[in-house]
Amino acid sequence: MKKRELKITYAEFENENELKPSDRELLEKARLAADMAYAPYSNFYVGAALLLKNGKIISGNNQENVAYPSGLCAERVAIYAAGAAYPDSAIDTIAVTCKSKAFEVNEPLSPCGACRQAIAEYEMRHKTNIRILLMGEKGTIRMLESISDLLPFMFKAEELKK
Ligand code: THU
Repeated sequence: MKKRELKITYAEFENENELKPSDRELLEKARLAADMAYAPYSNFYVGAALLLKNGKIISGNNQENVAYPSGLCAERVAIYAAGAAYPDSAIDTIAVTCKSKAFEVNEPLSPCGACRQAIAEYEMRHKTNIRILLMGEKGTIRMLESISDLLPFMFKAEELKK
């Protein structure tokens, strides 16, 4: 038996002013999207904004349903909207923010497993890394250069061909 370690890397910023202007703008777009989320069951409002390599910005927010599993997270709403509108354009950066009606979110949002898998798919689809910016309502902004740092040991297309 061998014990192994896996290293992930990410950056943290205490203040939005430390970000480059295009990242600040993307976070703002994610915040605007969160405000328009449909989240009557959880009261947890998530917004995602994608900067595509073609310069377009696409945003999305969580869409809930009384049959709970029929709803969809903000990240996937945005990613699939981008895939539908601009199938040939890779995603450069995804910014995700959240807020709750019940409490103040002071931690960066941690995307769910299914959304991590969807981000991974789009890295593989376009063969480019996707930068990920995560924030709550306040506090630290977390930045990762690729989904590999959020989804180690991910399931990849090569697994189907072995
Ligand atoms: N949610 C997202 O939109 N993205 C995530 O990464 C985590 C969770 C949404 C789904 C649901 O509408 C609400 O947050 C509470 O789980």
